[in-house]
Amino acid sequence: MTYKKKLIEVALPLEAINKEAARENYIYKGKPPPVYDPFCGGGSIPLEAQRMGLEAHASDLNPVPVLINKALIEIPPKFASKPPVNPEAKKKLGASGSWKGAAGLAEDIRYYGQWMRDEAEKRIGHLYPKVKLPKEHGGGEARVIAWLWARTVASPNPAAKGGTSMSVRTALSLINQSLDEVLAEQEGEFDADTRWALAWFDQNGFNEGAYGMAETLCTAKNTSVQGVKDAGILEAKGGKVRLLKKEELDADWNPATDSRLTIWEITHHLIRRLEQGESGAAELIQQLGAKTEVARDLSYRLYTICERRKWAQEAIDYNALVLSWSDVQRLAQEKKAAAPTQGEMQL
Ligand SMILES: C[S@@+](CC[C@H](N)C(=O)[O-])C[C@H]1O[C@@H](n2cnc3c(N)ncnc32)[C@H](O)[C@@H]1O
Repeated sequence: MTYKKKLIEVALPLEAINKEAARENYIYKGKPPPVYDPFCGGGSIPLEAQRMGLEAHASDLNPVPVLINKALIEIPPKFASKPPVNPEAKKKLGASGSWKGAAGLAEDIRYYGQWMRDEAEKRIGHLYPKVKLPKEHGGGEARVIAWLWARTVASPNPAAKGGTSMSVRTALSLINQSLDEVLAEQEGEFDADTRWALAWFDQNGFNEGAYGMAETLCTAKNTSVQGVKDAGILEAKGGKVRLLKKEELDADWNPATDSRLTIWEITHHLIRRLEQGESGAAELIQQLGAKTEVARDLSYRLYTICERRKWAQEAIDYNALVLSWSDVQRLAQEKKAAAPTQGEMQL
């Protein structure tokens, strides 16, 4: 029986490869040449070359392969046999110790990967609340580890049984309806003036609106136009009213002497201070205590309104407070620890 050569053996005959390898070895005087794969893709060629002890180079026009190759062949050798640098490993083992290959680097990646996960949870974890599990899945509450964006959903209407899908638009409107219910519940935390300001903002933003409309809304929210004005967040003149922008709020505002303190004011003063740096905002949190958490909730609520209404600048302001919340709060705690005798204001 005659042996039929495979295509690869015809295209790259082993004898030819061996001959070429011997020639290369002779030219490079036993020192193997560097390898360069200009279209490296997933990096198998540079990785194998490196594994054989060759100097490996790689490039690609696609940034994903570039990233893969950086992680695969460029970064690990730089840290080969080095100890980890994360504080916990250092504490445990001292700065040295024996770390073979990429073990030290892997230890750091695990440590800082966990740090990033915890940090993400601290900063945006509140946007991903626990869900109630149905009985058939054990009941109770569970943390969601991945959210999938479903473009169509099966209709809960029994008349539409049989896999009828509803449009994304209908699904979104149902989602928003549920969201509104949740948010309405959250509104219970706000004072009456803030509840009024929130509803007014949803309709008018910082634009002027008719006094009569403001008055009707005030009745519904159990406050008065004069009261909201006294709270220092509203301008009323010539039959028109408008909410004051954060930069128009009283620059000398002191929550300790404010006789009609509102979550609305606290939120906007926090954002204003944040523009000057985290320290000022942290001082306010330190002064007002844990109840400023409600200001964070309001800021998030205002952010969702701005996003829905496509008010980009305001959305950025509110989002900034939400995003920097954990940092500012940490700073406030540090300040509090440095001045332990200072008490918190009771709202
Ligand atoms: C088949 S993959 C490479 C596989 C890789 N050499 C291996 O052996 O595993 C081809 C790669 O070439 C890259 N590529 C295509 N055109 C390119 C160009 N003009 N410059 C750089 N990379 C290119 C593609 O992005 C793709 O990642």
